[in-house]
Amino acid sequence: MTTSDRAIQTDLTSEQLSNIYRIDDFEAIAHERLSEMAFAYYAGGAGDERTLSRNRSAWEEMSIWYRVMVDVSKRSSATTLLDMPLSFPLLVAPTALHKMAHSEGESATARACGSAGIPMVVSSLSTTAIEDICAVARSPILFQLYIGKDRGFTTELLRRVERAGCVALQLTVDTPVWGLREREMKTGFCVPHGMSIANLDRKSDGPKGHTGVGIAETLGWTITASLCWKDLEWLCGLTKLPVMVKGICRTDDAQTAVRCGAKGIVVSNHGGRQLDGAPPTAEALPRIAQAVASRVPVIVDGGIRHGGDILKALALGATAVQIGRPILWGLSAAGENGVRRVIDILAQDFDRVMALSGCPTIASITRDLLEPPR
Ligand SMILES: Cc1cc2nc3c(=O)[nH]c(=O)nc-3n(C[C@H](O)[C@H](O)[C@H](O)COP(=O)(O)O)c2cc1C
Repeated sequence: MTTSDRAIQTDLTSEQLSNIYRIDDFEAIAHERLSEMAFAYYAGGAGDERTLSRNRSAWEEMSIWYRVMVDVSKRSSATTLLDMPLSFPLLVAPTALHKMAHSEGESATARACGSAGIPMVVSSLSTTAIEDICAVARSPILFQLYIGKDRGFTTELLRRVERAGCVALQLTVDTPVWGLREREMKTGFCVPHGMSIANLDRKSDGPKGHTGVGIAETLGWTITASLCWKDLEWLCGLTKLPVMVKGICRTDDAQTAVRCGAKGIVVSNHGGRQLDGAPPTAEALPRIAQAVASRVPVIVDGGIRHGGDILKALALGATAVQIGRPILWGLSAAGENGVRRVIDILAQDFDRVMALSGCPTIASITRDLLEPPR
């Protein structure tokens, strides 16, 4: 790694971290600390970034019609997802290349998730091997899979993931090709020298060393445009691990995924990085939850930055939410401690919002909170 890939800086101290109260402040800190290329890769979206910005504004525009005079002196935000215990309804979304943010990369993220009691979804494109991440994990690890052209390799990778102790898979389906992200092109995105896409190193159609600029050139070999429903059936038949399907925005696709064997749906548009013009996830969620939430859990990600956003997602039918970029901002600021502070800010905010909304339990977060009572 060269200094321009990640400026060598010491982590923020615990005292400095405890004076940060907002996720957006972490983003500003990460912007100062990361190289231009790394920040552009993490922050950017596809096209004119309309979906990227609407992901956030759609949550912001909803009001919470809070209840009063409810005894909220005892509250619990604990919940479960596919039999996994969650200290509150949050997972870390799969994001690539954590070592661009911090030298300890995905291991630091996993340790922070372990101490906070929330699961981490590890990206196929992690810079640390899945075995090494699982070795330091103290909370459930899920694995995000891209199915590439070489199904033999996918099967091998799956067996590694199972042996390492992952508890579930998220199959990403919104990447037949990579979205065009102008910020990445302008800053010359590439996999930094000295880093590897650790889980895919032995892939036969992978590059010998990483060359090219932009995600399509550097990581185009990791995905295939031929993926279709029979591949989901194939995957579900290949493993006992529950397969969630990530990147769904339509009810018919959600229903088909469940018919093909999916045990969960992740409503996601890849954080606005794929199809610009896709609906914000807050808009897609209630339709999908209505269609499939009685059969399988529904997770949502995209633009979630506040405890209130989590409450809104649950009121719309989600079992839990995922966050992507905020984790990368925390990692850039202070490795494990930075990620832990990001999670704590959201946990405390969610608890406060539950109290202020008259919701002592997860079960009391219902749809009527988002509509003015008649
Ligand atoms: C830098 C970055 C890398 C990502 N890498 C992956 C990935 O490898 N696999 C995947 O399924 N999604 C990936 N995503 C999408 C996230 O899993 C998630 O859908 C998105 O970040 C949620 O939006 P948010 O960042 O606004 O929270 C990535 C997102 C970002 C920002």
